[in-house]
Amino acid sequence: MKDQLQLILDHCPNMMLLVCPDDLRIVLANAVAVRLLGYGEDQLRNMTITEIETSLQDAFYWEEVRTGQYSAIEAQQGQYQCGDGTVLAVMKSVHLIDSGSAPLLLVQARDIRHERHIEDALEQTLSQLKATLESTGNGILVLDRHGKITSMNRLFSAMWDIPQALLLAGDGAAILEFLARQVRQADLWRTRLHDVLVPQETEDVFRLNDGRVFECKSRPQHLGERIVGRVFGCTDITQRQLAEEALRQSRDQLEARVQERTADLQRANATLQTEQARQQELIDKLGEAQNQLLQSEKMASIGVLAAGVAHEINNPVGFVNSNLCSLQRYAHDLFRLLDAYQQVPLGAADRERIERLEREIDTEFLREDLASLLAESLDGLDRVKRIVLDMKEFSRIDSGGRQQASLEAGLDSTINLVWNEIKYKADVIKEYANAPPIECIPSQLNQVFMNLLINAAHAIEGRGRITVRTGYSGTHAWVEVEDSGKGIAPEHLSRIYDPFFTTKPVGQGTGLGLSLSYGIIQRHGGTIEASSTVGVGTVFRLELPRVGTSVHSVGAAASSS
Ligand SMILES: Nc1ncnc2c1ncn2[C@@H]1O[C@H](COP(=O)(O)OP(=O)(O)OP(=O)(O)O)[C@@H](O)[C@H]1O
Ligand SMILES: [Mg+2]
Repeated sequence: MKDQLQLILDHCPNMMLLVCPDDLRIVLANAVAVRLLGYGEDQLRNMTITEIETSLQDAFYWEEVRTGQYSAIEAQQGQYQCGDGTVLAVMKSVHLIDSGSAPLLLVQARDIRHERHIEDALEQTLSQLKATLESTGNGILVLDRHGKITSMNRLFSAMWDIPQALLLAGDGAAILEFLARQVRQADLWRTRLHDVLVPQETEDVFRLNDGRVFECKSRPQHLGERIVGRVFGCTDITQRQLAEEALRQSRDQLEARVQERTADLQRANATLQTEQARQQELIDKLGEAQNQLLQSEKMASIGVLAAGVAHEINNPVGFVNSNLCSLQRYAHDLFRLLDAYQQVPLGAADRERIERLEREIDTEFLREDLASLLAESLDGLDRVKRIVLDMKEFSRIDSGGRQQASLEAGLDSTINLVWNEIKYKADVIKEYANAPPIECIPSQLNQVFMNLLINAAHAIEGRGRITVRTGYSGTHAWVEVEDSGKGIAPEHLSRIYDPFFTTKPVGQGTGLGLSLSYGIIQRHGGTIEASSTVGVGTVFRLELPRVGTSVHSVGAAASSS
């Protein structure tokens, strides 16, 4: 039985000592006790418990036991004297075992050196943690899983101005309430303090009633997988916010000023551009006017030249014509006289001499040829007279500005004048309606006809046809110049009246003909229109009022354009 008890005790992980209360002798020690205390089993059994439990407190206790006053001990720290002179920290308990005959005291002791180690380490960690908490720049508040305050650092209580009395009272709920009352977004603050167990980290900016701004971050505190609390870190960012706000304001002001200046600049730029565009427009108009002036001057000088030449030629042609007529008459008379002489009978010698002379001169041929020479010369002179007339008609310089004139006569004279340009390229077909004269400046209209006819001739590649038509209504007369030329591309049709628009090679066209024509027709109160099919031909149609309304200004406008 005793061996069995020994066996059981030996398998127990704690030291086990059975002590006799009378003399405090150890009657039984298990293997763990022998091993830990470092005494031999027999040696231990001859020792009293007070030789192992040597502290004063233990001496008192065991003395009481010896005098019969047992009291059980539950979990008390103590120190055991080991065989090698060292001291062993233990957690011990003492219980009375009353087996009936002789009661014994069972001392159980656990080696707590390791636990002490851990505790020391823990304590050191805790103190480190505390020092860290205190030295951090954030106010730290730690809540347990029930939302109760576990700890806070001094900075936290200072930041939140928690009264000393409240801190000393240790009433966590009151402290939390005190905090909530200071926050403007109290509801959010309470929610954050309440939701201790949510796994997410939070980050909020709270405004306090006194105007300060706190940035509060919170994160759950884990023990393994479990959330056991929450740590709140608060930073006073009032100054930072003020600085940021000031920075933002100055940036906004700067931006506003930059925008203002940019808008000013853009406005100025726009004004400048408008001004520039206006100036460019003026310059263009000026250039246009100048060129039109040049062109119209050119045309006018052609007219003047034509008129001058016509005038100068007129006189010699006149006297050459009259002389030729006289010559024709004289020649006729001379031949009459010759015929008469031929009837006179002559001597043989004279006859032979005269017949020889007649043969030499070939009188018969002379008679025929002289007549035809004179007729041809008179015909030539007639043509010269017609040309002179056409030139006068074309320029109409002699008859001044506004007058009644026949469009058809103007067309005829212009066709004659430009005949050289046309005759190798086209047949000219005239479809005149015998239109009545209209009030106009004929020399200017002739310039228009001339440009239309030459354009038509230029448009014809190879040989073609130019049809010139006239017509009239009660109020208007019209002229059409149609050609079978190459036509005008649709994209060009809207530009043909633009000054300098030309598709002709450099040197051949200035692009001013139609722009000038347009101006002339407009000043006559009329219209000019073109319709064209590429590859088929083009028709230009002029409509002119029979009685000019704006014609009064034509002279002035023409000379200033
Ligand atoms: N009958 C036509 N057929 C085809 N194209 C034409 C005809 N008339 C005018 N055009 C086109 O219109 C352009 C402008 O004509 P405009 O008479 O104004 O100038 P231009 O004949 O080129 O030069 P300029 O008349 O000053 O010598 C011509 O270059 C040509 O491309
Ligand atoms: Mg032209």
